[in-house]
Amino acid sequence: MLKLRSRLNMAAQMVRKGSRIADIGTDHAYLPASLILDGTVPCAIAADLRKGPLENAEATVNHYGIAEKVQLRLSDGLKCVDRSEVDDIIIAGMGGILISEILEAAPWVKEKNIQLILQPQTHDEVLRKWLWENGFEITDEKSCFDDGKTYICMSAVYTGEITSHSDAEILLGGFINKSDDASVSFCEKKIHRTKVRLEALRKSDPENAETERLQKILNEVKEWQP
Ligand SMILES: C[S@@+](CC[C@H](N)C(=O)[O-])C[C@H]1O[C@@H](n2cnc3c(N)ncnc32)[C@H](O)[C@@H]1O
Repeated sequence: MLKLRSRLNMAAQMVRKGSRIADIGTDHAYLPASLILDGTVPCAIAADLRKGPLENAEATVNHYGIAEKVQLRLSDGLKCVDRSEVDDIIIAGMGGILISEILEAAPWVKEKNIQLILQPQTHDEVLRKWLWENGFEITDEKSCFDDGKTYICMSAVYTGEITSHSDAEILLGGFINKSDDASVSFCEKKIHRTKVRLEALRKSDPENAETERLQKILNEVKEWQP
């Protein structure tokens, strides 16, 4: 068995049992290896842009004797993955901007029965906006603490319905109504960063339209209480 850290375990919990997965930006391939070893998935594609991380992945799958169940691929995003090969796509440990670019470059992620499991380390609001503007429904958002830091993970499926959301909803996502410690910590940090940015903008460029937008977000979350 391979025990995952909380951050990766949170993504693993969102994978559907029996689905074929592609882990994009896999590095050490701990996530696909763990899902194969515990019987959640029958097979996996472990892809990475660079050779070094794929060598880490190869070492992991050899160590656990699961090489025949994991295909290792050098791939920029989903470029070397075919829709017919996967059900659940995991992209963890990258920034939200890069994750949205990877999804944008693979329009087939909108096809039926594909589930996305995304774990942005930064700019999660950019990713939420991209998903909503491109007809995806965010079906779940979870948070956890790992090594003293707060991490989040979301699952999404394409519905074709483009939904509109306020800037505060884009910033805080599904965490706005959650009261567990990790979700509260996530919201507190995002609100704090918004306040700091607004203060800095007020000093340097008070007429900037962004000032108004940030103030609107803070007005909307004024009632927010952990
Ligand atoms: C911080 S590691 C995350 C590893 C693992 N997914 C995790 O969450 O622990 C990011 C990995 O993404 C890979 N990566 C960056 N850009 C990529 C792209 N466009 N396509 C595929 N992999 C990429 C990097 O080479 C690196 O191995």
